[in-house]
Amino acid sequence: MKRVLITGASGFVGSWLLKTAPGNVEILAQYHQRKIPFLPPHAAALQLNLLQPDWKRALAFEPKVILHCAALASPESCEAQPEAAQQINFSAAAQLCDLAVQIGARLIFTSTDLVYGGARGCYSESDPPQPINVYTRAKVEAERYILANHPDAVAARCALVYGRSLHGQPTFTETVIERLRRGEPVALFCDEYRTPVPVDALAAALWELAGNEFTGILNLGGAEKVSRYDMGRIICETLSLPESLLLPRKIVEMRFAAARAPDCSLDVSLARRVLTTPLPGFAKGITRILG
Ligand SMILES: NC(=O)c1ccc[n+]([C@@H]2O[C@H](COP(=O)([O-])OP(=O)(O)OC[C@H]3O[C@@H](n4cnc5c(N)ncnc54)[C@H](OP(=O)(O)O)[C@@H]3O)[C@@H](O)[C@H]2O)c1
Repeated sequence: MKRVLITGASGFVGSWLLKTAPGNVEILAQYHQRKIPFLPPHAAALQLNLLQPDWKRALAFEPKVILHCAALASPESCEAQPEAAQQINFSAAAQLCDLAVQIGARLIFTSTDLVYGGARGCYSESDPPQPINVYTRAKVEAERYILANHPDAVAARCALVYGRSLHGQPTFTETVIERLRRGEPVALFCDEYRTPVPVDALAAALWELAGNEFTGILNLGGAEKVSRYDMGRIICETLSLPESLLLPRKIVEMRFAAARAPDCSLDVSLARRVLTTPLPGFAKGITRILG
């Protein structure tokens, strides 16, 4: 049975990795403050703070693969706590990389589409990153460290992730649906584009990467470039909810601490070639989830 360490197993993506774990893996699931929603058979939980990590138990587990999802994943939180962000998103990732090299474990690092900066869109893996805030600077630094030091590693640049929450914190799509169902207006950006990916498809792609031999940078996004306003429109169509409640907003109208990336849509042709996991566009993905 293959041993897999999943970090961030109490988070949105990590909890789906647990839910969709193949039956033939033994898992050590790291969390910090939130309880892991459920553990599949052959899984144990490990509480560990990446600000003061003690990797002893992880080392003793001797994982063959590490799926690294623990992060300070919100650009706004990173801007508010730059030192913690650097420690969690870069230093801990670099330490985990050294550990992976030491024990011969394959490392799948979850990075972000936001590393591209968003000036142009439709980015392929060969486009240079242009980090524009604390979050993306730490992610780019971590990617560079990992790819320079670990010969069996992947930097998976994940797009905006959507779908059902298992970890007790409502997701963007769940919040939009809830508000629309209550008849409340929802303000959404109409000038910020991504290629969102459903969380179950992302988890399947990460599991596939855990088991194949691809190394390097890989974009993992859905097949359709949309704005958050487009996502709201598609949700309204799918659930027959009133589109009149959607309020289009421009980035300049809102104030954020972290700089925003206008178009971080991904070219996912490499993922289509190296993976068998389908990565559907938003309309298809949300229909499947809500259906
Ligand atoms: N969600 C998206 O749309 C998206 C898009 C692109 C890339 N990504 C990347 O995908 C990965 C997973 O994101 P996510 O949405 O699942 O994030 P999330 O829901 O915020 O989960 C983050 C995880 O990291 C753990 N964590 C945070 N601070 C920690 C600390 N000091 N010590 C130990 N663990 C800590 C959390 O543990 P506790 O909750 O137990 O404290 C949680 O398990 C991240 O690398 C993120 O950058 C996400």
